[in-house]
Amino acid sequence: MKIAPSILSADFANLARDIKLVEKAGADYIHVDVMDGHFVPNITIGPAVVAAIRPVTKLPLDCHLMIEKPENYILDFAKAGADIINVHVEATPHIHRALQMIKGADVKAGVTINPGTPVDAIKHVLKMADLVLVMTVNPGFGGQAFIPEAVEKVKELKALKEEFDYHYEIEVDGGIVPETAEICQAAGADVFVAGSYIYNAPDPDERIAALKEVLAK
Ligand code: DX5
Ligand code: ZN
Repeated sequence: MKIAPSILSADFANLARDIKLVEKAGADYIHVDVMDGHFVPNITIGPAVVAAIRPVTKLPLDCHLMIEKPENYILDFAKAGADIINVHVEATPHIHRALQMIKGADVKAGVTINPGTPVDAIKHVLKMADLVLVMTVNPGFGGQAFIPEAVEKVKELKALKEEFDYHYEIEVDGGIVPETAEICQAAGADVFVAGSYIYNAPDPDERIAALKEVLAK
């Protein structure tokens, strides 16, 4: 089980402080939400910010690209120091090529599906995926309510992983709190992204501890 705090809900004026805080509290990945105002109706951060936070932490930077034409930016994120790059299947007609590019840059390749996208849409690239990110909200903003219908897809991905001996981690992102994390874990999820639950709290370290506690049961 891995916890990936999303810095989308961190204080952007104090990113280094907020990253160190969750690293100390036992986070496993730092989840970086990249939005372009086209693929999703919000704009956040780009490769320059990834490069700036790279020296701040030893944790893997899990970059979630919510951008159109992700192929055009994969190398920039790789150079900036991303350890995992997630691309949405809905954002490109060439998901296979995008994953090839990520792997070619020696970065772990993640493929992501929106709540309305079936697992079938990524069936033919599962073999090459190091991570599959199942969105449990519609991407664009932190603090939204968990979409329970997505859990079925986590189960499907877990079953496919076992059947074909795939190596990907299953990550869930959106509306994750202890109750929803437990539901996703029971379905087969390995990595839990949480933004507002962790950062919109007076003590983010207690929130990480609370997640770890339910997931360790
Ligand atoms: C949503 C982002 C998420 C977001 C999760 O578009 O991909 O990573 O930060 O935020 P919470 O945990 O608040 O739902
Ligand atoms: Zn995300």
